[in-house]
Amino acid sequence: MEDKGFRVRIFRSDDLNRVMTINEECLPENYSTFFYRDLYQRFPKTFIVAEADGAIQGYIMCRIERGLSKFKTFRTARHAHVVSIAVMEAYRRRGIASEILLKAMENGVEAYNVTECFLEVRASNQLAIALYEKLGFTNVNRKLGYYMDGEDALVLAKPLKEEP
Ligand code: ACO
Ligand code: ZN
Repeated sequence: MEDKGFRVRIFRSDDLNRVMTINEECLPENYSTFFYRDLYQRFPKTFIVAEADGAIQGYIMCRIERGLSKFKTFRTARHAHVVSIAVMEAYRRRGIASEILLKAMENGVEAYNVTECFLEVRASNQLAIALYEKLGFTNVNRKLGYYMDGEDALVLAKPLKEEP
């Protein structure tokens, strides 16, 4: 197998400090330990980390929720809502975010039967938007003033499989 220089696996409880450090270095939206533990306990299969050079360098965490389809009117869907994804700056642009997001979507379908994936992203976050569009996400909505500093969020979504 080709060595990509990183390894992807499910989060473990003792990864929490490192994941919180990455979150705090990479994003202004930060969370309590309770928040991380709660997501991990409820949805462990979509809480994924990437390790390189002996440490975690990226993470993704999702909440599984039922709601209206982002694509079909009057239809419900099971969503993998990407709450947060980040990769340490020195480890970017080698496919880590793509791989952990793809893995989270795959596990979401297998373990939780999700039919769609969606997320909010800052309207100005071109890098992240490019990543999501590359993986087949499209812009389905805009949330005005969604972030604490007043910036708008774009809602991007991707269909994963048909509702049974
Ligand atoms: N310039 C242009 N395009 C980029 C860049 C860049 N610097 N970085 C990523 N992309 C796009 C490209 O299309 C890239 O594909 P390519 O390398 O084949 O051209 C694609 O995204 C995939 O890149 P990856 O290597 O998989 O992404 P990476 O591991 O670098 O992580 C991420 C991307 C997570 C956005 C990273 O830059 C980061 O942590 N940023 C800060 C935190 C952040 O903004 N997180 C997302 C917030 S939204 C949310 O959490 C729901
Ligand atoms: Zn949600």
